[in-house]
Amino acid sequence: MTDIRSVVRGVGSYLPARALTNADLAQIVDTSDEWIVQRTGIRERHIAADNELTSDLALHAARAALADAGMDAGDIDLIVLATSTPDNTFPATAVSVQAGLGITRGAAFDLQAVCSGFVFAVATADSFLKSGAFKRALVIGAETFSRILDWSDRTTCVLFGDGAGALVLEGVAAQDAGGRGVLTTHLRSDGRHKNKLYVDGGVSSTKTVGFLRMEGREVFRHAVGMITDVIVDAFEATGESAQTIDWFVPHQANRRIIDASAAKLGIASEKVVVTVDRHGNTSAASIPLALATAHADGRIKTGDLVLLEAMGGGFTWGSALIRW
Ligand code: ACO
Repeated sequence: MTDIRSVVRGVGSYLPARALTNADLAQIVDTSDEWIVQRTGIRERHIAADNELTSDLALHAARAALADAGMDAGDIDLIVLATSTPDNTFPATAVSVQAGLGITRGAAFDLQAVCSGFVFAVATADSFLKSGAFKRALVIGAETFSRILDWSDRTTCVLFGDGAGALVLEGVAAQDAGGRGVLTTHLRSDGRHKNKLYVDGGVSSTKTVGFLRMEGREVFRHAVGMITDVIVDAFEATGESAQTIDWFVPHQANRRIIDASAAKLGIASEKVVVTVDRHGNTSAASIPLALATAHADGRIKTGDLVLLEAMGGGFTWGSALIRW
């Protein structure tokens, strides 16, 4: 079998127009800009319009990624969409994106690993491309978490927001990839922690959608250790290190988790991409939102070594190391 690399061809993102600031939230629940910024680093989040669905956000991001790649939708034969907030129970939100783009070939499906969804989706698409089963993939993270927030619970509603981001990956023969592509991915889950961050409704349990519930301190307590474990795995698999990476693009959940993880790994703060202040925790969408920002402002360039990581409900966690 030919050795194939999944090479990044484009990245794009989308945030809904409506921004909700910390000051706006202080009108809804007993909180303050000072408390939110100090504990999380978040300053504002974006909220989808009533008629705006997860697939609409995803479509905007996908089109932006295709434009960045200089590709047409017809070039794509695989869509992997990570979301915990799908348009409907079924069909997959990915098929709405596929139809919206006018694609009628290949496969499109959703993947659910909560905040780790984008890293799981990159790993999944990478496996398919490497196997030769598909040639060009749209890997999307898209969420409307505003729809599953309990807006009377100040311990959760201040943390999350809506958004979408997408990456175009192309399977390229390794000898033609010039060292670029997804170098390694490492995925983990441990369902013993499933009740520490969950939604209290669902199709087969309550026949309702439910609201997000979280033991914030417990999540925080586990996050840094889990994140650093899968990053050490990525370094060991490739011989790369905190010194050789160019950019650390973590899941944007919380500034304190990001800073503590980078410090524990010895990653210099100027290599860390942080956008959580602008959009809060957008779950599976947060990494491609951060990637799109750092690519658009000229930080992430072709040939750079980019480290992704995420941790979230389940618990699930994972890392991906990419030569951009
Ligand atoms: N505004 C003001 N006060 C608040 C708010 C708020 N929005 N929320 C909680 N408080 C109060 C609490 O009621 C408590 O008051 P008390 O001392 O009178 O009882 C006080 O603040 C401290 O509460 P804690 O929960 O102990 O606050 P903590 O310092 O742990 O910060 C936080 C809470 C920010 C949620 C933190 O635990 C955290 O970051 N956890 C990680 C959660 C996370 O990022 N989850 C995202 C999903 S998972 C992932 O993506 C990695």
